[in-house]
Amino acid sequence: MTVSQEQFPENKIPAIKRVMMPRDTNAVGTIFGGVILAEIDLAAATEAHHHHQGMVVTVSMDKIDFKAPVRVGDLVSFFTETLHIGRSSIKVKVAVWACRRFGGGTHEYVTEAEVTMVAVDDQFRPTPVAGKGGDHGG
Ligand SMILES: CC(C)(COP(=O)(O)OP(=O)(O)OC[C@H]1O[C@@H](n2cnc3c(N)ncnc32)[C@H](O)[C@@H]1OP(=O)(O)O)[C@@H](O)C(=O)NCCC(=O)NCCS
Repeated sequence: MTVSQEQFPENKIPAIKRVMMPRDTNAVGTIFGGVILAEIDLAAATEAHHHHQGMVVTVSMDKIDFKAPVRVGDLVSFFTETLHIGRSSIKVKVAVWACRRFGGGTHEYVTEAEVTMVAVDDQFRPTPVAGKGGDHGG
């Protein structure tokens, strides 16, 4: 199932769900963008681990536009979708939706990102993704 900004993906299980707390706020009282970026990174890694059980690192995160603020108390869902698996890289789309804690529980699209993770060995060198002809079989 693809994730988009058009409709809340009701039937999809998010990679991560998190309730935002006062400690996550910026100077104007909404949620600090960096908190959301960190969760996007974690969600992408979680998705990448479906394809590769070893270590993965983030090599790239594309431009991110925040379309709506996230507020204290919101339950934020990070939906993921694998876009491409290369030799050592895994490109993941992460779509972020906030369920308003104060505001009737409506779902609001927040942002999305394309994140590229790279499978690395114990020397942190790129290594083939499992199932893609590497030494993890497949
Ligand atoms: C990830 C890392 C090991 C890749 O090393 P590298 O020398 O660029 O390796 P390669 O050129 O062989 O590229 C490896 C893969 O990454 C992809 N890649 C490299 N740079 C990329 C970029 N900017 N955007 C998207 N993909 C990229 C390559 O296309 C290749 O994919 P493929 O194997 O599926 O074809 C290295 O850049 C690194 O250690 N970066 C820091 C990672 C990190 O610490 N992240 C957390 C930051 S706190």
